[in-house]
Amino acid sequence: MQTNRERKLLWGILASVLISTVAMFLFSQRASAGTPQDRTDRVQHVQVTPCDGVANAGLDVPSSHDPNNREQSLKMARVILAAWMERNPQRVGSWRQEEALAMASHPVTGAEQQTIPAASAPEKQPVKFTDRDKLIWNLELKKMVDEGYRLFHSSTGLGGTIGISCDMCHPDSSNTHPETYPKFQVQLKKVALLRDMINWCIENPEKGKPLPQDDEKLRAVEAYILSQGKGRSLEVGKH
Ligand code: HEC
Repeated sequence: MQTNRERKLLWGILASVLISTVAMFLFSQRASAGTPQDRTDRVQHVQVTPCDGVANAGLDVPSSHDPNNREQSLKMARVILAAWMERNPQRVGSWRQEEALAMASHPVTGAEQQTIPAASAPEKQPVKFTDRDKLIWNLELKKMVDEGYRLFHSSTGLGGTIGISCDMCHPDSSNTHPETYPKFQVQLKKVALLRDMINWCIENPEKGKPLPQDDEKLRAVEAYILSQGKGRSLEVGKH
């Protein structure tokens, strides 16, 4: 038989256990809620393929992932590239070799300023194109190539959604082989122009939307990739 005192003590213990459990629960809820931004930070699991459309890498992308966080995106790009390398071990050696070569031979170009001289008085026997003409054309070309360079290195410029840019796997445009286009690409199931392949790579692995064929951005990236391949002989269709 319990005495009144004992019963009171028991109820008291039970009540305090209950109160502290509720308090702890409420406290933990508050702590995990954090700021409103944290609350929406869900991790999204995405399947990404590199440009082959086959090798699959699963990535956990936090919804707060900042596409401008290059360090974080680079890590993701490496995971995707590693999935391709695992699938294609026989191609890793030449991939790495070409990457090193390209990086050694294509120093990053800055947009150096050039002034266009004033047009000289028309000559009696006009030559077809003056040096001034050629300078203007070269500057126009450089402008387009520089824009392509910018987009190739931008994680958002081509509409990518997971923070990855082309240069993360193709430093200095290595391993893009522009001289082999057009060629039949299995993943596209057709003969692809270089720009078709660029568009494919915007979709996978950048997880963006393909651009219209005459889009200025697509044209600029094509110009940049081709300019990096300058001097190579055409090997249309080569695999
Ligand atoms: C995550 C790494 C990764 C990223 C990012 C990436 N690529 Fe690729 N890319 C690859 C791999 C791997 C291949 C080789 C695929 C194959 O042939 O199996 C490739 C192939 C290519 C090719 C074809 C090369 C050939 O031999 O015909 C082109 C062109 C290309 N990429 C352009 C791009 C462009 C443009 C972007 C950005 C929009 C991009 N890539 C982003 C990994 C990547």
